[in-house]
Amino acid sequence: MKHIVFLTGAGMSAESGISTFRDSNGLWENYDVMQVASIEGWYDNPDLVQQFYNDRRRQLKNAQPNEGHKIIAALEEKFQVTVVTQNVDNLHERAGSKQVIHLHGELTKACNESKTEVYDIGYEPITPGEKAKDGSRLRPFIVWFGEAVPMIDKAADAVSQADVVVIIGTSMKVYPAAGLVYYARRGVPIYLIDPKEVSAPPQVIVIQEKASDGMRKLAQLL
Ligand code: APR
Repeated sequence: MKHIVFLTGAGMSAESGISTFRDSNGLWENYDVMQVASIEGWYDNPDLVQQFYNDRRRQLKNAQPNEGHKIIAALEEKFQVTVVTQNVDNLHERAGSKQVIHLHGELTKACNESKTEVYDIGYEPITPGEKAKDGSRLRPFIVWFGEAVPMIDKAADAVSQADVVVIIGTSMKVYPAAGLVYYARRGVPIYLIDPKEVSAPPQVIVIQEKASDGMRKLAQLL
C-alpha cells in the first residue's frame, strides 16, 4: 500500500477560521512571538503565555475540520497515511486521521514544567498559578522557540519511508520542521499546496490553491 506523508502547517487550518502566523493579520502581527511562544517568554511572564494559549484553546472548541482535513483522512481507505503537522490544533484527528505526529505540541494537552507528565485538558483554560501533580507550574504542552522538538526523529523516519510527500500550508520558515522534506527518497513525488506564490525546489509539483481546493485536485492525481 502506497505510503503518503503530509507535512502540514497553519495554512491547513486557515479555512477552519484559525489564523496563520505570518500572513497579513496573522498571529505574529498581533502578538510578540518571543513573549508568548518562547521558553524565555514563559519564564518572563507566564500569565501572559497562559492567556494566549487559553484564548487559542477556547477558539479551537468552536472550529471545525475543513474539507482539506477530511479529504486527507478519507485517503486512509486507499493508502497508508501519516500526517506530520506543525499545528497544535486537533482538526486532523477530528476529521478522522489516525496517524498524526505533532511536531510543536498539542493545544488540548497540558504538562508539568519538565514535560514528563502530560494531561488531556480538552478546551479548558489553565488558571494562572495552577500546579501539576509534581508541584511545578502546569503549562501548555507546546514546543516553544528555544525548546527541543522530540517528535522530529519519528517525523523524519516517516518522510524517509514515504512514496509521496505532500506539503500543505506552511511557509517552511521554522526548523527543524522545514528540513523534513529533504528526508524524502530520490524520485519520490513531492507536492506543495499553497494559495501564495512559493519558491520551491524544481522537483516539487506546486498546486497553487487553498488546502481544500488543492486536496480535491491532488486526490484525483494519487
Ligand atoms: N490553504 C493553504 N495554505 C494557506 C492558506 C490556505 N487557505 N492560507 C494561507 N496559507 C499558507 C500561507 O501562504 C503560508 O505559506 O500557509 C502558510 C502559513 O505559514 P505560517 O503562518 O508561517 O505558518 P507555519 O508555516 O505553520 O508556521 C510554522 O511557526 O510560529 C511557529 O510554531 C509556529 O508551527 C508554527 C511555525
